[in-house]
Amino acid sequence: MSKTITGFSKLNKEAKINWLIQNFFEYAETAKETLKLYWNSDEELQNLHDEFIENTISNYYLPYGIAPNFVINGKDYVIPMAVEESSVVAAASLVAKFWSARGGFKANVISTKKIGQVHFMYKGDFDKLKDYFENIKSTLFKSTEEITKNMRKRGGGILDIELRDKTSELENYYQLHATFETKDSMGANFINSCLETIASTFENDEIQIVMSILSNYVPECLVRAEVSCKVSNLGESDSKLFASKFEQAVKIANVEPHRAVTHNKGIMNGIDAVVIATGNDFRAVEAGAHAYASRSGKYKSLTNCEVKDGIFKFWIEIPLALGTVGGLTSLHPLSKLSLQMLQNPTAEELMQIVAVAGLAQNFAALRALTTTGIQKGHMKMHLSNIVKQLGATDEERNYLLNYFSDKQVSHSAVVDEFERLRK
Ligand code: MEV
Repeated sequence: MSKTITGFSKLNKEAKINWLIQNFFEYAETAKETLKLYWNSDEELQNLHDEFIENTISNYYLPYGIAPNFVINGKDYVIPMAVEESSVVAAASLVAKFWSARGGFKANVISTKKIGQVHFMYKGDFDKLKDYFENIKSTLFKSTEEITKNMRKRGGGILDIELRDKTSELENYYQLHATFETKDSMGANFINSCLETIASTFENDEIQIVMSILSNYVPECLVRAEVSCKVSNLGESDSKLFASKFEQAVKIANVEPHRAVTHNKGIMNGIDAVVIATGNDFRAVEAGAHAYASRSGKYKSLTNCEVKDGIFKFWIEIPLALGTVGGLTSLHPLSKLSLQMLQNPTAEELMQIVAVAGLAQNFAALRALTTTGIQKGHMKMHLSNIVKQLGATDEERNYLLNYFSDKQVSHSAVVDEFERLRK
């Protein structure tokens, strides 16, 4: 029998859950209990979360941690991170401390231009289209005046609208390529509203609008973050060898896409965690970052390293379309708190902080990979999780952590030793 349903969205939360568990769960009561376990007892707060999306039946938590000791452009920060992966926050904290003793991170925003496009089809003569565009261009701006009024007051707005001929790539395909400055907001709604208004003003009998939408590829909304110190100050037993292997690791990620993807994934561990904690759109950031990593036609590292004249320099350049006002940033109490923790940054400052979190994460990963390997740290965490699952007492836990400090950790080895201990 079909399990499709009409009018599901109209049901209240309880009825939605009942329908779900009756149709898709064997152990209905357990499922219901789990869902309700994650409801917030503060009804107002729960309602707020319910309304973020549609058909909400519970909340899905991510741990919210903080990485202290970041120094960025001479200013102290504690960085909030929402992430489920162990070691990410620990790595950020360690690296923050390490670089705070070596001048901290330097960051600067290179550009803040965002992009949106009206995609359309046109079968006529290009010169005629060009004339039409030139004649209507000022009207296109005028048509958005109501939408752009507040943004213009804040120093933002539509920067330019360009007509682009894309017919060499797709028959009859043209676009209006618009650039925007959205100041402290991420600007997605603003850009999309402007584009839809522009499109309806631009449309005529010969122009068929296909769609109007912002682009998450923002190579001109770019930030750079950097660390540097004397090679001899890198704190390794053989700092010269370390610097050289580290540099090679980055070079490998620049020539080998399989490695580059993992290398950049590690960067995104840091980036996404801060992006989520501050209520920004991590899918947009991810999509844009990976497109930027491929801008040469080959997928490459987002970071770079140079060891020259005894100086180790490591930096990241990444497009980040972020907001510190609007969207979830002011709606979600924890996003608001994250921004307060970061001393209420402007969008440009947040870009710098997020880029630093990515660079720090990559530094931690490459330092571990080129020295001890990452499994040592991961296995420590793995061991601690197994011990927790086994329900070990504090005494048993201390014993097991000590016992495995110089041995290979595997689930079965820990279980065996635990059972032996209990016997
Ligand atoms: C794991 O989440 C991230 C790393 O694989 C990144 C890297 O290999 O550079 C450790």
